[in-house]
Amino acid sequence: MAPETLQPRTDSALPEQAMAPQPWRIRSVRPDVASNEVFSWTLYPEPGVEPGPLPTPGQFNMLYLFGVGEVPISVSAITADGGIVHTTRAVGSVTRTMQDLGPGAVVGLRGPFGTAWPVEQARGRDLVLVAGGIGLAPLRPVIHAALERRADFGRVVVCYGARAPGDMIFRDELDAWAARGDFDLRVTVDRATAAWRGDVGVVTQLIDRGGFDRRNTVAMVCGPEVMMRFAAASLERRGLKPEDIYVSMERNMRCAVGFCGHCQIGSQFVCRDGPVFPYPVMEPAFRIREL
Ligand SMILES: Cc1cc2nc3c(=O)[nH]c(=O)nc-3n(C[C@H](O)[C@H](O)[C@H](O)COP(=O)(O)OP(=O)(O)OC[C@H]3O[C@@H](n4cnc5c(N)ncnc54)[C@H](O)[C@@H]3O)c2cc1C
Ligand code: FES
Repeated sequence: MAPETLQPRTDSALPEQAMAPQPWRIRSVRPDVASNEVFSWTLYPEPGVEPGPLPTPGQFNMLYLFGVGEVPISVSAITADGGIVHTTRAVGSVTRTMQDLGPGAVVGLRGPFGTAWPVEQARGRDLVLVAGGIGLAPLRPVIHAALERRADFGRVVVCYGARAPGDMIFRDELDAWAARGDFDLRVTVDRATAAWRGDVGVVTQLIDRGGFDRRNTVAMVCGPEVMMRFAAASLERRGLKPEDIYVSMERNMRCAVGFCGHCQIGSQFVCRDGPVFPYPVMEPAFRIREL
């Protein structure tokens, strides 16, 4: 990386509390898969905490477990009374410790940070959302927005791939979305069970079914990088312009405000310039294996 491409944040316009986690209390915990490997917390600010602006779909918060560590987690929903929902897969030291916390526990929260999905730019157009695994969580607020303001969008197609039927998150909501006549939900799993009657295979096969207007569609993709790369290629094959495709990137983070460079991909800081990027900005990074 050439030093001149490094562009750490130099302004001093950060909100005062951007680096100071504020206490938020877990009001409810909802296991999202049978194994409890994925769980959703609904958090409310403690008395005296002035919550920041409401997160927009695609943004994330830094959640801090006192004495353990801090992780970026996307907002998966906002409740009517201002609760913020985060849905987490337990993969390592911090997220596994999160699994042990129950209602009433207090954690640190700073945010919201990052760029949002282009929901407003998608008004009047078809919407294709492609999610792999836990990637459905950051896209869920877009689905909520599209369903609440259904008339603002054309066709809404959601393609969701999970490892196995038991790994599918938001199962109740998936059933409710599937039951709607104005919403095209397509689900596939890598490994079927005897009871599974749906699709088996990669999520890109769901994109290849089409059902959206290639000249007037915005696509939003979230999941493992290899899946996003293949999904973007499928969308392009279907005729979407690369600039109408958006991806959400994951990188380890420290500051989350563009100071430390920990989350850097090329000249982009995922915390400040992303996590949601137009695909052409990330396409060169996708071409480099193991970046
Ligand atoms: C902008 C952004 C939004 C995110 N949103 C969410 C979200 O909504 N829900 C969520 O569950 N996670 C989300 N993540 C990922 C989450 O931040 C990481 O899983 C978390 O930081 C891991 O921390 P840890 O201490 O538990 O694991 P570590 O101890 O740091 O890692 C343990 C092991 O898990 C592996 N690992 C780390 N992250 C992942 C991962 N994402 N998937 C698979 N393996 C991993 C590591 O390579 C390592 O081998 C997001 C990340 C970013 C950057
Ligand atoms: S620059 Fe510090 S995490 Fe992005």
